[in-house]
Amino acid sequence: MAYLKPERPEKVTAPSLRASKERGERLVCLTAYDYPTARVVDEAGIDIILVGDSLGNVVLGYGNTVPVTLDEMVMHTRAVRRGVQRALLVADMPYGTFHTGADDTVRAALRLVKEAGAEAVKLEGGRARAHLVKRLVDEEIAVMGHIGLTPQSVNKLGGFRVQGKTAQAARKLLDDARALEDAGAFSIVLELVPREIAELITDSVKIPTIGIGAGLHCDIQVLVFHDLVGLSFGKLPRFVRQYTNLRETITDAISRWAEDVRTGAYPADAESYGLPAEAAQELNIKTHEKDAKVEK
Ligand code: KIV
Repeated sequence: MAYLKPERPEKVTAPSLRASKERGERLVCLTAYDYPTARVVDEAGIDIILVGDSLGNVVLGYGNTVPVTLDEMVMHTRAVRRGVQRALLVADMPYGTFHTGADDTVRAALRLVKEAGAEAVKLEGGRARAHLVKRLVDEEIAVMGHIGLTPQSVNKLGGFRVQGKTAQAARKLLDDARALEDAGAFSIVLELVPREIAELITDSVKIPTIGIGAGLHCDIQVLVFHDLVGLSFGKLPRFVRQYTNLRETITDAISRWAEDVRTGAYPADAESYGLPAEAAQELNIKTHEKDAKVEK
């Protein structure tokens, strides 16, 4: 596999993202939920790795992100932590962990940072959650905001739709972004937002915006790993560009192996272990001469 050497090999940090925005650099963020994926994504030079609660959909098979628990987020973030060196590692605060007060919010975020090794947490919501963002930042926890479509609100919203399509809704999004910046968030995810509004927000705040379904003018782009590599099920949203079809590749590999097993083509002698000649002689078992040599 080609190793895409990062242009800037140094460790990505929450403060370094702001400097990147000032320099006009386009950065990339991708989700990961386990050790091998995290290694591949980090070695490919991705700047931010997000252990998103999208793991509920793409890894755990839930219908949406609402059932994802803090324990699940901790377990997956720990696995990802072991595979990441350069990228900034961000973990999602799952639904229910920041809805019962600021102290509970801090406790949940501390688990993700201390137990799981996240360098920052992400929390859905705008001005209404800004006091929680401020509290976390006051406790030395770096926070990524998330506005626009917030998938944890699926039951309230009744589905996944583009947000900020009226002037009033767009103004509210801008206000949410400013409130998060004022509260100390180091970046803001803009999900499913018209590109003009994403551009307006990006130009209006000093912290980087991270777009998903929000057009070209965000400072950073993010996608869900499984969507990008063709490992997800169901209809993909229009903003996803699928670069490969791993589902087909994996199905093909598994089918060929199963066929080899069924026809006796697997395992070959070279893929198994022969009895050393001395033992074979003593047991009066016939061996292949070449196997005996291999085992020496
Ligand atoms: O959970 C997730 O993966 C996310 C990204 C899509 C931004 O929130």
